[in-house]
Amino acid sequence: MPSVYDRNRAAWNRLAEGSTFACVATDAECREPLKALDSRGWLPPSVAGWDVLCLAAGGGWQSILYACAGANVTVVDISPAMLRLDEREARRRNLSIRIVEASMDDLSMLPEAGFDLVHQPVSTCYVPDVERVYREVARVLRDGGLYISQHKQPVSLQVVGRDRNDRYVIGVEYFHSAPLPPTGDMLYREPGTLEYLHRWEQLVGGLCRAGFHLEDLVEPPRHDLRAAPGTIGHRARFVPPYVRLKARRVARHSGGCSAPQLWTPESP
Ligand SMILES: C[S@@+](CC[C@H](N)C(=O)[O-])C[C@H]1O[C@@H](n2cnc3c(N)ncnc32)[C@H](O)[C@@H]1O
Repeated sequence: MPSVYDRNRAAWNRLAEGSTFACVATDAECREPLKALDSRGWLPPSVAGWDVLCLAAGGGWQSILYACAGANVTVVDISPAMLRLDEREARRRNLSIRIVEASMDDLSMLPEAGFDLVHQPVSTCYVPDVERVYREVARVLRDGGLYISQHKQPVSLQVVGRDRNDRYVIGVEYFHSAPLPPTGDMLYREPGTLEYLHRWEQLVGGLCRAGFHLEDLVEPPRHDLRAAPGTIGHRARFVPPYVRLKARRVARHSGGCSAPQLWTPESP
């Protein structure tokens, strides 16, 4: 039987053709890369010269934009087809990026404390243990380094459908730990993948336990007051789909969650 990793690699190899997550960076975005990457203003005015890891971020968007912003980019993803988009776009735009095919929960091929920033789009739902990912990110980040990640909210992964009054139905237990069952509601799921629900205690508590300070938490808006039932905009009025976290690597010698490190654009 294929492992969860094999299943998700195969699914994303298929999704690399046509998924909304496989849209490469446009010329307009490349002209103002930080504007495209950082709608919240979490990054400093420049990341030129920074060592940036785009984690589980194949698809030719994040890696290309950070490279356009002057960063030294490494992109890790489990799907060769998604990574081919990064490779193709980098070649087309004459950018140099490092491409690594690996799983986000085993970054042993990357050096300890080798990065100033790890940027991870929605993807921890594809691995059983989010805290293992956090420990790997903590290992590869430098002290004071920034970790920006986006995740699916647990409640969104508990929804299995809609009732006759267009109310969204929770059908998966909060403590469900196996891969999520197939459901009639695929609005915020990707076909063919195996996904896991990570609880708040794991998503946020796990981050602190791995050696990070949480600096901000936002819920990217996807709701649309005029959207019809059964659309992503309607569902998001009732169930928030995503959460985005800004976290800072605590200095290694400080022994865990202590006072935050001061951070300036000049001291990556
Ligand atoms: C939602 S897409 C994110 C990429 C996209 N560039 C974006 O803009 O959001 C999720 C990515 O996670 C990758 N992925 C799934 N399981 C993974 C794993 N175990 N390790 C690394 N990447 C994984 C997929 O191949 C896919 O490229």
